[in-house]
Amino acid sequence: MAETPTREAQGEARIAVIGAGWWAQGWHLPHLAANAPSVKIAAIVDANSNPVSTLASSPLLSLEELSQKYGCPHYKSMDDLLSDPEVGPTIDGAIVATSHASHYAVGTALLREGIHRRKMAEGIEKEEEGVNKKPRHAQVLHRNMSILMEKPMTTSVDEAKKLWEMRAFVINHTASYRPQTKVAQQIITTNQIGRIRHISASMNGPLMWLFDDPKNEAWVSKTPSMNGNGYAWGQLAHVLAWTYNVLGAGSTEEVATPTKVYCNMSHAPNTGADVSLAAVITCKDGITFSLDGTALLPGSQYADPPIGKHIRVEMFGTKGSLMYKGDDKKPETGRLELRRVVEGKDDGKSEYPCENMKGVDDGFYFEDGDPLGTGPGSMNAFLDACRASSQRFEQSLAGHIDESIDETSVVNDSLVGLRTVQIIDAMYRSSLSGLPELIEN
Ligand SMILES: NC(=O)c1ccc[n+]([C@@H]2O[C@H](COP(=O)([O-])OP(=O)(O)OC[C@H]3O[C@@H](n4cnc5c(N)ncnc54)[C@H](O)[C@@H]3O)[C@@H](O)[C@H]2O)c1
Repeated sequence: MAETPTREAQGEARIAVIGAGWWAQGWHLPHLAANAPSVKIAAIVDANSNPVSTLASSPLLSLEELSQKYGCPHYKSMDDLLSDPEVGPTIDGAIVATSHASHYAVGTALLREGIHRRKMAEGIEKEEEGVNKKPRHAQVLHRNMSILMEKPMTTSVDEAKKLWEMRAFVINHTASYRPQTKVAQQIITTNQIGRIRHISASMNGPLMWLFDDPKNEAWVSKTPSMNGNGYAWGQLAHVLAWTYNVLGAGSTEEVATPTKVYCNMSHAPNTGADVSLAAVITCKDGITFSLDGTALLPGSQYADPPIGKHIRVEMFGTKGSLMYKGDDKKPETGRLELRRVVEGKDDGKSEYPCENMKGVDDGFYFEDGDPLGTGPGSMNAFLDACRASSQRFEQSLAGHIDESIDETSVVNDSLVGLRTVQIIDAMYRSSLSGLPELIEN
């Protein structure tokens, strides 16, 4: 019997998981459970009461079984969850782990719930102002609705633009939350390689088992809003997000705003999904950007021993270059490397910025797909935001808000998500037309 939710303890974040398929059952739910007691799985939602996956090595649990295992109620839709007066209003955050094409519908329903809560609080505040005939000193707080959105943010540019306008959610690009990525971002945004002039990125994965099997429908079939489906949406989204994250999208002056894309693709024989891609991206600031990738690397990351993906991102500027490349199952195969043109001394020497840095491992670390532990950096950033806003809300009910609680931890990946969606969508359009395709900004 599922536990009836009780009023949460201070700082406990109540999280709903939307979509209880392969990834949610194998990664998100165990990670959330490992974060107890500061995190409570408050609800599980799936349109199918018996989720199935062609990717799982053993059958997935039914919603009823998940409910028992994690001690929470389950629902068949977001509406059912949000309209349950006992549970809907108590949710601090939601993880969207439904199939790519449904991220927009689920994400906007959650964002709307957040707006509704804010408006209700503003309404109460205004009413109290009216009664008291003077402004209140303390704001009436509402419970925030934080979101951890699975990648890709969505598969339509119009939807991505609307989500970007609504702002403020974390996208589960785990590579972007590695400590090494933060070091790379710091190097670029503090201008250590000067004005960037060229970017070269590639990602090759052992993934034909995924993209050439028609049973893996969500990874290989198009929905009406998609111009194609396969390796670009499924994998290149990771390397594009890493690149725009390191470029500081959303936090500093815009770099490498894409305006036009030319792309060649080849497709898997049994599914027609794209599996090899080569693209040239034209950018507003004149940066030349080349991006490629293939699923044709032999093996599987889930084999024993696992075969890793080969990833490479290189950025060249007027004062130096930044390189990050390696096999993502073998950290020792690569490392973050910086080369700088120091005035009067252009000797091409390498520096390794993570080498002696406290708390940052020197090596190649990209996606974090460890099913054990408390989750990747993206989940931790999301949970920190949920805990902070939950704590502030609980304190506001008790009449005392500790202003030292940092709410700026709410991360906003929506511009990184938009750039990723714009480029991948243009790659599919270009592959269909055989011509360079424009991106509207
Ligand atoms: N970050 C990563 O490294 C990573 C890795 C794997 C998968 N993913 C992403 O996770 C997402 C899910 O992948 P998966 O392999 O678990 O898929 P899946 O098909 O196994 O699971 C998706 C589940 O969502 C449910 N669903 C679909 N639409 C829904 C809706 N509107 N409301 C409620 N439930 C709905 C389906 O019934 C299904 O059970 C995808 O977007 C995928 O790209 C990310």
